[in-house]
Amino acid sequence: MESKRLKKALEEIDRFNSEDPRQEIVDGVAYPQELIYSKRLTEWVLKLDPQPSEALRIAARGQHICRWTIPRENYPMGRGGYLRWRQVLKSFHAEKVGEILQEMGYEEDFIQRAKRLILKKNLKKDADTQTLEDALCLVFFETQFVDLMEKTPEDKMKVIVRKTWKKMSPKGRDVALQMKLPFEEKRFVEETLSAEIYGVELAKLLEQTRPLRDAVATHGIYTSIESLDQLRIFMEHHVFAVWDFMSLVKSLQRTLTCTSVPWVPQGDPLSRRLINEITLDEESDETEEGKYLSHFEIYLQAMQQCGADTTRVKDLIGRIQRGEDIREALWHSEVPGPARAFVGKTWEIVESQSPHKIAAAFTVGREDVIPEMFQNILKSIEKRFPGKLTRFAYYLERHIHEDADRHGPMAIRMLVRLCRGSPDKWQEALEVAQIALEARREFLDAVAQKITQNRSDSGSPKAFSRPIDQMKTITDLPANLVRHVSI
Ligand SMILES: [Fe+2]
Ligand SMILES: [Fe+2]
Repeated sequence: MESKRLKKALEEIDRFNSEDPRQEIVDGVAYPQELIYSKRLTEWVLKLDPQPSEALRIAARGQHICRWTIPRENYPMGRGGYLRWRQVLKSFHAEKVGEILQEMGYEEDFIQRAKRLILKKNLKKDADTQTLEDALCLVFFETQFVDLMEKTPEDKMKVIVRKTWKKMSPKGRDVALQMKLPFEEKRFVEETLSAEIYGVELAKLLEQTRPLRDAVATHGIYTSIESLDQLRIFMEHHVFAVWDFMSLVKSLQRTLTCTSVPWVPQGDPLSRRLINEITLDEESDETEEGKYLSHFEIYLQAMQQCGADTTRVKDLIGRIQRGEDIREALWHSEVPGPARAFVGKTWEIVESQSPHKIAAAFTVGREDVIPEMFQNILKSIEKRFPGKLTRFAYYLERHIHEDADRHGPMAIRMLVRLCRGSPDKWQEALEVAQIALEARREFLDAVAQKITQNRSDSGSPKAFSRPIDQMKTITDLPANLVRHVSI
């Protein structure tokens, strides 16, 4: 229960902060900037500590009281001037809140306590100070990080992220890692802190694969798709990568969990949980219509909506369903060459039956690069075919968010658990990740070449020449579109 005195003190702090001439627009309404800031800080404090002390409530609300009255410009440029400014501000906020509390009749001990919190004395030892600091860092990640990243060089930004992280408690860090940030920023934070969060081995692996990961995530093919015919060529190849991904998922599930009867507990329970959760989404995700489909089946719907040819992938799957060995099926079906080579490489990794190798291909070669890759494809198709390819857009959007926020971090945790304590496994994971990424780059290069051929071909191949107005809409598709291709 909020005491009368506390309520009055908070109102008085709000009254001062309401005088901030700087405005921030939230949901179309302009608010004084410092007032909004103090409310956000309070919200985070309450999330971290649902029953905060009275002094903590006041310190959170008054942490930046009337900050605009002492602008940065009053102090010299450079680090010395900046530190001086911060010092003066801190004392000013503490004194100002102290005066308000005195007027409200608070005892001297209480006033000193609130001031010490605002001055952030005893961080790491005083639980209230730590909660306040965690909340400040969370407000920073939530509302200032994206803007700051835009105008700050990468090296400097890494220092800022590491310093912020150092100030936070394990609980605050956990909350920060769950926070929804745009995926570029999230990826940047996770990579910068990968050694702190997951250990130096993973940080090294990410560092060493970075050029390849960037080459795949920002490949020129995504912006080179100009026509529907070219998009169809892309999808008619890419669908094989969508399909073979499921074999990586399932082979991990097979080795990390018990998939035979009678059931017995098998392996590390957390890894079991992680792969089961990922499989649940990949194999039976909830669609926009509230039904359940695998991502592969959603992709087939997207292909049909844009008029792409699904016969070759269905033929391959039909052969496998009839019991043909995958290598024979790949050989006998009319799978396009680049896709055949790519699936072949994936299959070699699957056949290794080594969980850490499969997890490396799955995590670094797929889940990690997909959000950025798909973001680039999405931008391209929204620009070229606005509002037309709703199913494909849904598929891409789903992956941008799911893989960045959930599957990517989950897959990394799984990989770390599978390699932990074994330099040999880390080395093998690195090698397989590089093989998987190389294969992906070669695949994209080859598909890009096909797209270029299509562009320079004056008479486009008939299979790719359906105009956009003949495209099926999703509602035209038969209800059980993918009945024959379930795997
Ligand atoms: Fe997926
Ligand atoms: Fe995923």
